Amino acid sequence: MKIVITGASSGLGEALALHYAHGKNQLVLIARRKERLESVAQRCRAKGAEVETIIADVNDFARMREVGEELSRGGMDRIILNAGVSVGHSGGVTPFEDFERLFKTNFLSVHALLEPIIPKLIEQKKGEIVFISSLASLFTMPTSIAYSSSKRAINAYAEGLHYQLKPHGIVVMTIMPGFIDSEMTQKNQFKMPFFMSTERGVARIAHAIERKKIRYMFPFRFALMIRIVSLFPQPLRDKIVNFINFKKG
Ligand SMILES: NC(=O)c1ccc[n+]([C@@H]2O[C@H](COP(=O)([O-])OP(=O)(O)OC[C@H]3O[C@@H](n4cnc5c(N)ncnc54)[C@H](OP(=O)(O)O)[C@@H]3O)[C@@H](O)[C@H]2O)c1
Repeated sequence: MKIVITGASSGLGEALALHYAHGKNQLVLIARRKERLESVAQRCRAKGAEVETIIADVNDFARMREVGEELSRGGMDRIILNAGVSVGHSGGVTPFEDFERLFKTNFLSVHALLEPIIPKLIEQKKGEIVFISSLASLFTMPTSIAYSSSKRAINAYAEGLHYQLKPHGIVVMTIMPGFIDSEMTQKNQFKMPFFMSTERGVARIAHAIERKKIRYMFPFRFALMIRIVSLFPQPLRDKIVNFINFKKG
């Protein structure tokens, strides 16, 4: 199986690459940090996978389109759009630059890469597109406006793509994890409910992908709480948001 993973140099992307690294798989790993990515690639090769690395900044949209065209020539079975960034939770007004960076990295880069790939998947009449969104896409805290907005944009994009591509035999999946140990969450200065190890988190993601889950939210209890709260009347939701303590745990 040929699997493309963006953001494979650390965290979930690295763990997903290692999860899929075995003799039957051919991996294409994308990220900016050359040494980190090469180290992941070496470990995947040691487990028997054939690995190609592409050192690229997903914010370079021209390069992403080129990479998308290159990849579409060879075809692929699965692409996991995982590269992403968050910004610090200051509670102040979000600077425009943060919005720009998060929307470019977490959202626009995805279509720059997929635009040339989608026609190839349609021609193949098969393939899987996996988006790593977030539970933060379902509920926006005052301290995560830019991050939640960028991830909600991904959900909307993935939803439309699902309806567009399902008749062509292409499976579009949106995975919405809660807090998982990674470089991203190690920077967080607030309590992270239902925090999970990288291994556990990635095992859940891989299981959801194998089961071809179109929308998958986890951990279950955290996702359920968010969905229940979203049904509450606004004044009650206001009280809950005010109650949540974002001090370091
Ligand atoms: N950890 C969590 O709790 C959690 C929860 C929900 C969703 N997520 C999502 O999971 C994904 C992976 O995050 P993570 O937690 O594993 O964090 P991470 O360890 O910081 O990994 C982020 C990955 O994205 C890559 N990346 C970031 N900006 C890039 C750019 N401009 N060009 C190319 N690659 C770029 C990084 O590689 P380079 O720096 O080498 O380029 C790195 O490999 C993100 O989309 C994140 O939003 C994470």
